[in-house]
Amino acid sequence: MSHYHITSKEQYKQAYQESVENPEEFWSSIAENFQWNKKWDTVLNFDFSKPEINWFQGAKLNITENCIDRHLFERGNKTALLFEPNNPSEGAEHITYQQLHDRVCKMANVLKNQGIKKGDRVCLYLPMIPELAISVLACARIGAIHTVVFAGFSASALAARILDCDCTLVITSDGAFRGSKTIDLKGIVDKALKDCPDVKTILVAKRIYAEITLTEGRDYWLQPLLDKAETICKPEVMDAEDPLFILYTSGSTGKPKGMVHTTAGYMVYSAFTFKNVFQYEEEDVYWCTADIGWITGHSYIVYGPLANGATSVMFEGVPSHPDYGRFWDIVEKHKVNQFYTAPTAIRALAKQGAKWPKSYDLSSLKVLGTVGEPINEEAWHWYDEQIGKGNCPIVDTWWQTENGGILITSLPGITRQIPTYATLPMPGIQPCLMDEKGEEITTTEASGKLCIKFPWPSIARTIWGNHDRYRDTYFSAFKNKYFTGDGALRNAEGLYRITGRVDDVIIVSGHNLGTAPIEDAIDEHPNVSESAIVGFPHDIKGNALYGFVTLVDGEGSEKLKKEINNLISEKIGPIAKLDKIQFTEGLPKTRSGKIMRRILRKIASNETDSLGDISTLLNPEVVENIIKERLS
Ligand code: WT7
Repeated sequence: MSHYHITSKEQYKQAYQESVENPEEFWSSIAENFQWNKKWDTVLNFDFSKPEINWFQGAKLNITENCIDRHLFERGNKTALLFEPNNPSEGAEHITYQQLHDRVCKMANVLKNQGIKKGDRVCLYLPMIPELAISVLACARIGAIHTVVFAGFSASALAARILDCDCTLVITSDGAFRGSKTIDLKGIVDKALKDCPDVKTILVAKRIYAEITLTEGRDYWLQPLLDKAETICKPEVMDAEDPLFILYTSGSTGKPKGMVHTTAGYMVYSAFTFKNVFQYEEEDVYWCTADIGWITGHSYIVYGPLANGATSVMFEGVPSHPDYGRFWDIVEKHKVNQFYTAPTAIRALAKQGAKWPKSYDLSSLKVLGTVGEPINEEAWHWYDEQIGKGNCPIVDTWWQTENGGILITSLPGITRQIPTYATLPMPGIQPCLMDEKGEEITTTEASGKLCIKFPWPSIARTIWGNHDRYRDTYFSAFKNKYFTGDGALRNAEGLYRITGRVDDVIIVSGHNLGTAPIEDAIDEHPNVSESAIVGFPHDIKGNALYGFVTLVDGEGSEKLKKEINNLISEKIGPIAKLDKIQFTEGLPKTRSGKIMRRILRKIASNETDSLGDISTLLNPEVVENIIKERLS
């Protein structure tokens, strides 16, 4: 029996049990729901020591046939992508499955005409406009490997990625709208390409009608080429394990890791998790606010939703433009049913007060999701009360770029939810906790380093051009296990709570303290907006705690410091009290909204001359101020 759509707790339990006892049968029954040119000879072949992982070997398919063509008969006129532009008065664009088919085929033919063929790498450096999703799918149509670089990355970060996987073609635009600002994307590409001699072609989408220069023989406006292209492009027949895309993620060293995802397993897992985690039904409108430059956008704006024939909203803008009601305005306007965002966005919006969500009709919402970092209790409750009106289950979805899809989450209305707990593994996912000695902890209630014991279909297969680094980073800390780099605790019922990166755990006087629970406690102070805790060397305690705190309004004071430490004492214990509290205007963040604790750690330890590259931060300017006001 196929467990493709899980609708009850009983079914979840059954599916989970079967996925562990009989993984090959389980996943082949899920894979039966897709369209194959040829089915697999073996479901799974793996050896974590090498590591080598193959799913659905021998199968032939094209993912775009599954995401587009097979829906045309029943859903040709259904909206596939619902594009909501930066400027609300421009009006939304509904792209039906039929139109998506035609536009993807045209784009694929343009790429072919430029000499791009199966296995070539194509870099996409675009704003959140339809051309981005269409280019992603066009690459997949012809078997080219896409590497999307988030359009907020600098020229040097872009060049590093283009060089690492040797892209020969870049698709960009004449610029990007971002709130009330514009960004000169083409200028950034020009700068990056000074160091990338192998790029032969740049295709430029027109978005902001900026005056830009085209280099003769290299740069072309995209639209005239699309206008001339055919609306039919035969899909390239791919092997199950052919690479689908490369997506870069930062590691503990400066060089980004090009995570390689392959075709069949990625498709099966992203589609299966989309269906169940969001409980998507045929008429629903689903919205994930991520950028396609991140894995969340790949799996849960493009591939997962489209593989299920869903309507997926694609938003070009930012939550604060034209005002802080924008998200809720979009929810009301398009009657969004499933809404998926990040804790950092929730906190930023909560700071603006409940008046914004209160001014809109949010009654269409059925499921709320969060991803990217541990969500603090206060933000969770705000999301639950102000957005979900106490009526929408919240799925706290834990996963990583390396994973391809959601690994640990509740299922909405089906399994239990507890604030700050990701809760239960998806079918096929076998998490475990490891102790200091490297042994698996067998008691139910425990905390340790989070590993996964068995492969799932969408696990990354390698790091582009560096398989040794792949093995060393993920498969060498614990024998025959994938190491996530996260710490977690498991409660008496077996539910998981992710406590943060294990490098964020600080040992104070021999006590193991996770930063997330301390930050949670501080964030409950009514005047605290956000906080980040790091360790710094201390003569007696080994490490002491340094807190960076941003306020809702007003200045920091000794009184406030006392209140914060009292809160920590109250919530966690006096051991977790902070030695130093620095009030600051902002915290350094990655483009995906994660606080860069690595930088704060260096500042707290007074190692500011070895900060490393901060140019890819969202807000590099805050770092200077934090250094200036550092407490010695
Ligand atoms: C790291 C992966 C995959 C989506 C975006 C992030 C943290 C992610 C959660 C969550 C607690 C989370 C982990 C993980 N993380 N989701 N729901 N609860 N932590 O992808 O940039 O590859 O980061 O994000 O620390 O290891 P990423």
